[in-house]
Amino acid sequence: MRVVVTGACGFIGSNLVRKLVEIAGIDVVAVDALTYAGNLRNLDGVGPRVRFVRGDVRDREAMTSVLADADAVLHLAAESHVDRSIADARPFVETNVLGTAVLLDAAREAGVRRVVLISTDEVYGSLGANGLFTEHSPLAPSSPYAASKAASDLLALAYHRTYGLPVIVTRCSNNFGPYQFPEKLIPLVTLRAIRREPIPLYGNGLNVRDWIHVEDHCRALIRVLEAGEPGAVYNISAHEERTNLQVVQAILALVGAPSTLVRFVSDRPGHDFRYALDSRKLRREVGWQPVWTFDEGLAATVRWYQENEAWWQSVLTGDYRQYVERQYGALGQGGQP
Ligand code: NAD
Ligand code: TYD
Repeated sequence: MRVVVTGACGFIGSNLVRKLVEIAGIDVVAVDALTYAGNLRNLDGVGPRVRFVRGDVRDREAMTSVLADADAVLHLAAESHVDRSIADARPFVETNVLGTAVLLDAAREAGVRRVVLISTDEVYGSLGANGLFTEHSPLAPSSPYAASKAASDLLALAYHRTYGLPVIVTRCSNNFGPYQFPEKLIPLVTLRAIRREPIPLYGNGLNVRDWIHVEDHCRALIRVLEAGEPGAVYNISAHEERTNLQVVQAILALVGAPSTLVRFVSDRPGHDFRYALDSRKLRREVGWQPVWTFDEGLAATVRWYQENEAWWQSVLTGDYRQYVERQYGALGQGGQP
């Protein structure tokens, strides 16, 4: 079986490629445009059954060529960071909406037998203190990122209805684990704690996210690829809700850094209060459940960043430094470790 993974050099894509090669008989074509978030080092050591192709999902010719003899495609390529989408929505529309349309057309032309579109709980918008989003909850995205993902979900489902393209949409909660770009909360806070830099918490730090270890997300994607129903949507969640303040305090404790590093900064515009997903459909219909608890997964993740300084030093390039300076420069220094 030949499986194409788009966005394969990003955080989830690279973890997924590693999981796919563990399965006998699967060859992987790893496609990525290598934007600021894509890093070829994320695929170090994956072995000879993975072929890397540098390609942009907006490029029809390139997508037609990679999908030519593919059995399935797992589509993860995207602009993925909410704060960047608030600063500039355009790349999000171009890659997440237009790029998905190009990929779906190429998949149709190639006669691909499964298209799994990897989406997010953020398409549902925000919850109050209670309740869970199900697959039937209305889409009410708050950020340009979430709106672009909702558009791409709807396009994919429309291709199923209109052309019979065997598309499955998955919506997962917040991921954490190895190889995550340190603009997202958990790797950002971990690296800043290791380096004793001030840690920015938006608003009062009481917003809630539903966390899942990336390996559990990847196992769910493989089960959906094997056993999911074309045209269906599956929520993916480990039901591990934490406030951002709880997450930050847990990381500081694991690193052994002082809580005086925390800075409460202005809130993100349109900041969703709470995400939490009902994932019973996935558990019932494809037979999946998470392996990692949040606490064990977080401890293993923090250890991974502590033990892989060469990886994160390779990510702290000029571009990243500029982004951090723009976003968090006003926080000043927290003192040396
Ligand atoms: P990421 O930013 O780490 O990786 C995205 C990858 O896509 C990068 O390697 C980048 O180079 C590549 N890419 C971007 N634009 C491209 C283009 N035009 N053509 C080809 N490649 C391109 O993101 P991630 O966290 O790994 O997220 C992967 C997918 O999972 C995204 O679709 C995201 O919306 C979805 N998702 C993420 C989370 C999460 O918590 N991180 C949760 C649910 C869903
Ligand atoms: P993030 O990792 O950007 O994921 P998402 O916005 O997709 O949920 O943020 C997770 C939560 O952490 C979110 O509520 C915003 C908050 N946050 C901070 O408080 N400080 C930060 O520096 C970042 C990046 C996020």
